[in-house]
Amino acid sequence: MGFEAGDAKKGANLFKTRCAQCHTLKAGEGNKIGPELHGLFGRQSGQVEGFSYTDANKQRAVHWDENTLFEYLENPKKYIPGTKMAFGGLKKPKDRNDLITFLKAETK
Ligand code: HEC
Repeated sequence: MGFEAGDAKKGANLFKTRCAQCHTLKAGEGNKIGPELHGLFGRQSGQVEGFSYTDANKQRAVHWDENTLFEYLENPKKYIPGTKMAFGGLKKPKDRNDLITFLKAETK
């Protein structure tokens, strides 16, 4: 099972409640506890300038797209053992589809 387009409005709400305390979306908004997500799609993991990643995140060398995010966000610590991202994961495929649909539009 992989990514399927979802509901961006529901995704916006998920971002606000589950991700926004640590991540920004738009160009120039910068890093918080986590790296900025602007330009995420098509980028390799661990590449945001000025953000201090774990070696685990850098060396995993993921190419971020809908399908890798779909897998990662289910259980980040399983997908990248040793990551410092303190987030348990979104277990429902529908939530991940909604969130990724939102992220794809908002991180451009
Ligand atoms: C408590 C803070 C926190 C929360 C909540 C959080 N993150 Fe993160 N995130 C981080 C940190 C810190 C890293 C860097 C991990 C590392 O270096 O090991 C990260 C890394 C990432 C990466 C990899 C970025 C890259 O450049 O390789 C993505 C994608 C990501 N987070 C997306 C999300 C999404 C989407 C959510 C909401 C579902 C979320 N995060 C929730 C702190 C958080």
